[in-house]
Amino acid sequence: MSQFTAPTILMCPPDFYGIEYEINPWMSRSRASDSKLAQQQWHALRDLLENVGAEIRLMPPARGLPDLVFTANAGLVWNNTVFLSKFRHEARQGETPLDEAWFQSIGFETVSMTGEWSFEGAGDALFCGQTLFAGYLIRSDAAAMQWLASQIGCRVIPLQLVDEHYYHLDTCFCPLSADEAIYYPPAFDEYAQAAISAHVENLIPVSESEAARFACNAVVIGRKVVLNTGCPELERELQDRGYEPHHTELGEFIKAGGSAKCLTLRLDGEDAAIWPGVEE
Ligand code: ARG
Repeated sequence: MSQFTAPTILMCPPDFYGIEYEINPWMSRSRASDSKLAQQQWHALRDLLENVGAEIRLMPPARGLPDLVFTANAGLVWNNTVFLSKFRHEARQGETPLDEAWFQSIGFETVSMTGEWSFEGAGDALFCGQTLFAGYLIRSDAAAMQWLASQIGCRVIPLQLVDEHYYHLDTCFCPLSADEAIYYPPAFDEYAQAAISAHVENLIPVSESEAARFACNAVVIGRKVVLNTGCPELERELQDRGYEPHHTELGEFIKAGGSAKCLTLRLDGEDAAIWPGVEE
């Protein structure tokens, strides 16, 4: 069972955020982020999330770990357990002990993966209904996802990511409810595209230009959907389907390859998730 009664989101202030290394095609040390603007954009996102009904929990930022702001990558939350990430790139590996300590401090059980696998948390593992959709190849390994599903006792659908720009599943796939999701088809191999179509009843594909504005990297709180600016087609489509889109500019974080969803981690479980085996 979750210890939270309201939608609760983990964020980390961008005090030490910056482009200090290059581990995805969006990042270039020659395109530095403006720290004042990054602070403003992050605070505006936080305020917006609170306005649409989320409670925000903060973990302390740390010097030398500029991507710690992307809390989606801390781990995969399941009930009162968090499966901690094992980052592919050394530059981010120092985040995990801080994530572990934070989760323990609020009473979560933390699980570290054994095995030589990489796994980047809710960046690559997203529940839609009772099924865990799992992006692999670029940052997480398929074997890690299989192990995770065996621990949880759920069905896993491994999805191969084929475009380095969409290196985490949450950059190209966003569950909205148990049977509805936003996605960017060209980010997946053919088999993964077919698997998504077979397992998610209602799909909203986004255009190439809106995918590049991180349209799929949205935060869902009930029927409210928070995303970056510059995705008017998706916003219209969401409205037609009874959702309420809200946008806020996140350009300083796109420079690191992240947007709204990456900057958050839902601690009480996503709205689209039905956790298997939960005793009420
Ligand atoms: N610069 C970070 C990285 O490449 C961005 C992480 C974005 N997080 C996400 N969940 N997609 O690892």
